[in-house]
Amino acid sequence: MAHLSVPQPEALQNDDELDEWLTRPRPVLIEFISRVSSPLVILGAGGKMGPTLAVLARRAADAAGHPLQVIAVSRFSQPAQRAWLESRNVRTVACDLLEPSAVAGLPKTANAIYLAGMKFGTASNPSATWAINTLVPANVCHHFREARIVALSTGNVYPMVPVAEGGATEEHALTPLGEYANAAVARERIFDFFSRRNGTAIALLRLFYAVELRYGVLVDIARRVFRGEPVPVATNFLNCIWQGDANEMILRALPLAGSPPSRWNLCRPDLISVSETASRCGELFGKSARLAGEPSPTALLGDSSRICSRLGTPPTSVETMLGWIARWTAAGGRTLEKPTGFEVRDGRF
Ligand SMILES: NC(=O)c1ccc[n+]([C@@H]2O[C@H](COP(=O)([O-])OP(=O)(O)OC[C@H]3O[C@@H](n4cnc5c(N)ncnc54)[C@H](OP(=O)(O)O)[C@@H]3O)[C@@H](O)[C@H]2O)c1
Repeated sequence: MAHLSVPQPEALQNDDELDEWLTRPRPVLIEFISRVSSPLVILGAGGKMGPTLAVLARRAADAAGHPLQVIAVSRFSQPAQRAWLESRNVRTVACDLLEPSAVAGLPKTANAIYLAGMKFGTASNPSATWAINTLVPANVCHHFREARIVALSTGNVYPMVPVAEGGATEEHALTPLGEYANAAVARERIFDFFSRRNGTAIALLRLFYAVELRYGVLVDIARRVFRGEPVPVATNFLNCIWQGDANEMILRALPLAGSPPSRWNLCRPDLISVSETASRCGELFGKSARLAGEPSPTALLGDSSRICSRLGTPPTSVETMLGWIARWTAAGGRTLEKPTGFEVRDGRF
């Protein structure tokens, strides 16, 4: 198949090589993006995923010879993200999406990707988490009511489920533990409310742990093994996805938007064992992995078969990610110092 035809590199040795690979479009995206009308607006683009998502779209449109303007909107509290985007021909607009008057000034579009959110810091500032995850979607739904919107949600909207039963499907009740996860449920409910009221086409993507080499669950596990620290295994299973694959699927999910919103779990289809991943990292580093705790029968897990049957299985395997991460970690590669908290079981972030 054409979209599987891009060979993967053996190693990614520095930030430039990593960013180049994360933003290299596969033929399936180049073909898709030629049908996306301009502009493409990416909201909340200043975080961990937005910059490489925006540049992936930029490069896909360029490769297609399609004059698509890509507009990245964020507060840009990390100014380096803005400069990085501008230097790669992505237009940036600084905007606090909490401010209705600022949102009202944003360019109109037929295609929007919504990435804004807040998770970490919820325990100390819960009201900010609730405001960002509810008021921002309301402002966005009001201004972009004519657009189709792919809105990121999270696997945290589900409660922990029995590992033996596999992951939660999209029909599972949204009854999670903790304020962040419940604010994430509220984010979905606000999108759902406005979609039904205004007829706005929306796809809600419940993402489970994006991974690249500077952050992600596999990085958290690998770093612990490399440093000789114990790996907590109380939550012994998880789902994840290479960030480049996630970004591509987010863009290609635009035609999945509907009213009422469609809902999709987004991750690789495999259930990943934390203890087996730690052992594999130990082999790659030539060290023995230490484990801490007793595996619980429940974990935060999603069944991604619906999105895989529509958009294809994400091409980057766990083994490939671990090989890249092991080399990166052993070479002292940079990280964002943003641990995922995959071991958290009480919903406090
Ligand atoms: N990365 C993952 O593994 C993962 C897993 C599950 C779900 N998700 C979901 O996927 C989405 C994107 O992930 P991410 O990792 O890129 O998240 P992230 O690093 O938290 O980035 C989200 C960005 O939204 C922007 N934002 C927040 N409030 C805003 C406001 N009032 N106005 C304008 N921009 C605002 C912030 O950038 P500025 O400071 O520049 O405004 C923030 O960096 C998130 O919503 C998250 O819920 C991600």
